Amino acid sequence: MTALPASGREWHLVARPHGWPKAEDFALREVPVAEPGEGRILVRNKHFSVDPYMRGRMNDVKSYTPPFKLDHPMDGAAVGEVVASDAEGFAVGDQVLHGLGWREYARVPAQYAVKVDASLAPLSAYLGVLGMTGLTAYAGLFETASFKEGDAVFVSGAAGAVGSQVGQLARIKGASRVIGSAGSDDKVKLLTEEYGFDAAFNYKTGGSIKEQLKQAAPDGIDVYFDNVGGEHLEAALSSFNLHGRATICGMISQYNSTEATPAPRNLAVIIGKRLRLQGMLVNDHKALQPQFVKDVAGWLASGELKYRETFVEGIENGYDAFVGLLRGENTGKMIVTLN
Ligand SMILES: NC(=O)c1ccc[n+]([C@@H]2O[C@H](COP(=O)([O-])OP(=O)(O)OC[C@H]3O[C@@H](n4cnc5c(N)ncnc54)[C@H](OP(=O)(O)O)[C@@H]3O)[C@@H](O)[C@H]2O)c1
Repeated sequence: MTALPASGREWHLVARPHGWPKAEDFALREVPVAEPGEGRILVRNKHFSVDPYMRGRMNDVKSYTPPFKLDHPMDGAAVGEVVASDAEGFAVGDQVLHGLGWREYARVPAQYAVKVDASLAPLSAYLGVLGMTGLTAYAGLFETASFKEGDAVFVSGAAGAVGSQVGQLARIKGASRVIGSAGSDDKVKLLTEEYGFDAAFNYKTGGSIKEQLKQAAPDGIDVYFDNVGGEHLEAALSSFNLHGRATICGMISQYNSTEATPAPRNLAVIIGKRLRLQGMLVNDHKALQPQFVKDVAGWLASGELKYRETFVEGIENGYDAFVGLLRGENTGKMIVTLN
């Protein structure tokens, strides 16, 4: 066995951000690397995920996941290679997915690690298209929104990890029309030219979101997959057909807000149109995992489903990757790759 390094680096939250996170709220610290200990494995992380939900965990509020502790390492999904094992069933060289990201070396209790097959897909795919964001798209569209063939589907954040998969799954499963919104012309082009969306618009420069959606969906929408909230949700409510269904997956437009958003201002349309707006959390849909992997691996192999990843190199750039994600600097899954 190769000798373990004496130390490794990890990101700590050192102050709770108010509004947009600042570099001073975080610290990259060097800590000793210990032997795994009984029932644990030591993993050298190759990639870790930065995700919008982590912004919520930086606040000291009660939520569905506990807040990050100050002066402790942050966590989140990561993939890497086992470099020492004191746990049955895991050997040095195994590739694993686990929950102790934001660090170079992770001492992971074996029950929280899952072996992944790096010959089936690149390791990073287990953080995105075949991982948490992929399952969110799959469950949120097929289960929460009760998508059915012939539905017209609108998805916001459509060039991101979840959104790009939602739109393509809807197309693959026979949506009558797929519409997406994104924050740059390049992203909009990607949606229609590569991912097969029927229409897409730039919510930053194209004028009123409500008007752009009406133009893109002249016959209205049946499903709205909400990653953004605010004005986007208001526009979707306005374009909904009777018995429309919304999956409320995320509201990223509000994650750094210090004041409540006024939109949506048209909630009353829910009554007359008999709409269903349903919140979702991916962890409630674990039972779908085997079917999700089977379906998505098949669509990737056939070329029907495409995906992008944005890699930020180096643990020292972890903070930049996270705020870059919130600013929209990613196309597809945002991933920090360790050297
Ligand atoms: N409920 C769940 O279980 C669950 C699980 C995973 C993710 N989510 C949610 O799903 C959403 C997407 O997550 P993801 O991991 O796939 O991230 P992502 O979409 O890959 O990245 C975030 C994207 O949000 C967009 N954005 C940022 N600020 C915005 C604003 N003010 N208005 C509109 N768009 C904005 C940016 O793209 P543009 O360039 O287009 O602005 C950015 O690329 C998030 O809201 C997240 O919280 C929920």
